[in-house]
Amino acid sequence: MASKHIFFFAILFFSAVSVFAEENPSLVMDYYKDTCPQAEEIIKEQVKLLYKRHKNTAFSWLRNIFHDCFVESCDASLLLDSTRRMLSEKETDRSFGMRNFRYIETIKEAVERECPGVVSCADILVLSGRDGIVALGGPHIPLKTGRRDGRKSRADILEQHLPDHNESMSVVLERFANIGINTPGVVALLGSHSVGRTHCVKLVHRLYPEVDPQLNPEHVPHMLKKCPDPIPDPKAVQYVRNDRGTPMVLDNNYYRNILDNKGLMLVDHQLAMDKRTKPYVKKMAKSQNYFFKEFARAITILSENNPLTGTKGEIRKQCNLSNKLH
Ligand code: HEM
Ligand SMILES: *[C@@H]1O[C@H](CO)[C@@H](O)[C@H](O)[C@H]1NC(C)=O
Ligand SMILES: *[C@@H]1O[C@H](CO)[C@@H](O)[C@H](O)[C@H]1NC(C)=O
Repeated sequence: MASKHIFFFAILFFSAVSVFAEENPSLVMDYYKDTCPQAEEIIKEQVKLLYKRHKNTAFSWLRNIFHDCFVESCDASLLLDSTRRMLSEKETDRSFGMRNFRYIETIKEAVERECPGVVSCADILVLSGRDGIVALGGPHIPLKTGRRDGRKSRADILEQHLPDHNESMSVVLERFANIGINTPGVVALLGSHSVGRTHCVKLVHRLYPEVDPQLNPEHVPHMLKKCPDPIPDPKAVQYVRNDRGTPMVLDNNYYRNILDNKGLMLVDHQLAMDKRTKPYVKKMAKSQNYFFKEFARAITILSENNPLTGTKGEIRKQCNLSNKLH
């Protein structure tokens, strides 16, 4: 009798486990190997072609991983357009300066021509980020796939997740810890600010009414020249390059800059000053290998944050629109 019961519960248990597994399958390497074997190759090719035409597309693909995956889930919610009822994530203040979204559609269209309705925008976002990192001279990071696309914008909760340019290091570390990224991981990810630009609106508080005494005085004239107005016209494209030395290359020069008080944003500067992060900043400034190793590890964790899999979400036909709106 007892053994019958055990048998019964065992069956119940294993079927519950398998139902759970079906509803929440995990990401896997080469998820599209049977359904669209060329997918990763097409994405890589498109990223290369776009990079030839517009180098800054690679910055965008990298930044996209942060802004999509860090806000609750890698579900391509970042790519949705505003609707009459809902402002999109792209259009919020925290996404200021994000660009090249129309070229994500170019990549998606190339994939759709080969395998319509199979490859998610969420996977395209992550894989283009991965290939963008390589275009910028960073490491090649093998990443899993199988993400599905969310149907709704997460603009309403964006600010609870994405830190602002002047956020305290405690809050930054805590938010990354929430998704399993530790201190060296955070230090490595901020190394992304080795490429790209920062608009003057995010910097003028360090220049006016008086110059932040923590800024390297050698760097100040350049910043003042690039940001001549205390209240920059938000429409004017006024910005400073994040890393004047090697602005197009993802490298550890960023760490030498911030140790030299040439970090543009307050978070960059804090990274080099805070006693929790400084030891890793110094280590990464010395060793590009160590930077890349930690960077690859942290990008992997970020890219696997809470994905929609199985029957959740959908495979969008077009990355800026949820299918129900067609
Ligand atoms: C504390 C965390 C972070 C804050 C507060 C932050 C903030 C910012 C800000 C304000 C800009 C300038 C935008 C502009 O004015 O155009 C920027 C640029 C950028 N960020 Fe971050 N960021 C953070 C972490 C990250 C992470 C984790 C990544 C990548 C994984 C990343 C990638 C980039 C890239 C590539 C750019 C240059 C974009 C371009 O030139 O188009 N950031 N970030
Ligand atoms: C951070 O900067 C923004 C302007 O970009 C400002 O509105 C906000 O008050 C600042 N926050 C802190 C904590 O200083
Ligand atoms: C969405 O993307 C498509 C394809 O690139 C484009 O034609 C369309 O204008 C975009 N929609 C909006 C509202 O921008």
